[in-house]
Amino acid sequence: MSSTPTRARYGAEAVVGLKGQLPNPFPRTMGPNCMKYLQEVVDSGLTSPMIGRFEQAFAEAMGVRYCIATPGCTPALAVLAAAFAFEPGDEIIVSPVTDYGTVQGLIRENYIPVFADTEPGTVNLSADTIAPLVTDRTRALLVVHKTGLVCDMDPINTLAKKHGLIVYEDVCQAVFSRYKGRYAGALSHAAGYSFDSEKTMGSDIGGCVVTDDDALAERIRFIGQSRGGEMRPGFGRVHTEPGYAHRMTMCTAAISLAQLEILPDQVARRDAMIRLVSRLLSDIPGIHPLPIPDYQEVYSCWMAGFNIDKKAFRCDADTFAAQLAEAGIPGIGTGKYYLMPEALTFLQKRAQNQVYPFSLPPASRRYAYSADSCPVARDFLDTFIRWSTFCEKYEPVHCEQIAHLVRSVAERNRV
Ligand SMILES: Cc1ncc(COP(=O)(O)O)c(C=O)c1O
Repeated sequence: MSSTPTRARYGAEAVVGLKGQLPNPFPRTMGPNCMKYLQEVVDSGLTSPMIGRFEQAFAEAMGVRYCIATPGCTPALAVLAAAFAFEPGDEIIVSPVTDYGTVQGLIRENYIPVFADTEPGTVNLSADTIAPLVTDRTRALLVVHKTGLVCDMDPINTLAKKHGLIVYEDVCQAVFSRYKGRYAGALSHAAGYSFDSEKTMGSDIGGCVVTDDDALAERIRFIGQSRGGEMRPGFGRVHTEPGYAHRMTMCTAAISLAQLEILPDQVARRDAMIRLVSRLLSDIPGIHPLPIPDYQEVYSCWMAGFNIDKKAFRCDADTFAAQLAEAGIPGIGTGKYYLMPEALTFLQKRAQNQVYPFSLPPASRRYAYSADSCPVARDFLDTFIRWSTFCEKYEPVHCEQIAHLVRSVAERNRV
């Protein structure tokens, strides 16, 4: 009998038992109106318009016309992929350093993910890394604002326009990050958000799609929430498309609404503290915090991180991170598993064995997935150390403590 694999864990479950002297996002800070809104749901006997209230508030906050609430970002992006109705075998160019939730939906629609490499020195892709990959099968660009750093969207949108491509955003790690006067998520055709308990707007398990496009918003409700069902007189529901029932619950909407109210202050705190951490870490020889681009007006940082200069230290990133965890930074470690072309072993097998949609047709050529397909991202992650326990509870004293701990580990291991 084969041994049972160790299942991946998410949310609060993943941080239970983490030790350290620095803040931990759990237990989450809850908005003061949280219980009031939950009470309203209960008192209404489940007739409360709480979901619509949250959707309206979030759309207004992001400066977009529509917000459609979902049970998470994985379903939000799955619904978007279905709503676009491309053909099986069509290609979507995607960020290579991300979470499985970014690509789950497009793979289920039998589209082919094509991973663009990252821009050297950072964790995000760019117009320059996307451009060589555009083919006559490309239909969309799905960009991820990893850690909260916004991709340079103007050149990406220009490139997309030139080729007639849709652009959409995964904003799971960047809610309220701001680029050139607009929020992440309002920089393209549509976007998906996560309000998972561990995310910046921690609201239990939730998410949403936002868009300004009237027809797309209607289609997302039809495909994503109405299960592709239409009413036919004298018969009832007929299902004209294979839709989903990805609706947010009223209780999550109540929590999300209360969390949204406290988010601007929390994001301002995250922005100020990550800039302080960055400044302090950049003073340590051999330590390179994630660069914050000049165009980034607000860095709503979900995950803090830095690279180590391999030549400066006797140890690798895993050992360096393990010593920092031991020294008291909860949950710190490397993030090699974010490299999707390496982490999606099922996709590697399907492409290699030319399983549909990698069969010819609908695929137009042979595809292969491995770490080597995105060498810049691979090498970046090899020396990258991050901690997602960074949160709104940070004070300047914690930033100084982080810098002190990183400096001590650096000196202990310096060549
Ligand atoms: C970049 C990114 N995309 C997608 C997801 C999936 O979000 P959810 O857990 O809400 O489905 C996550 C969650 O970790 C994420 O970080």
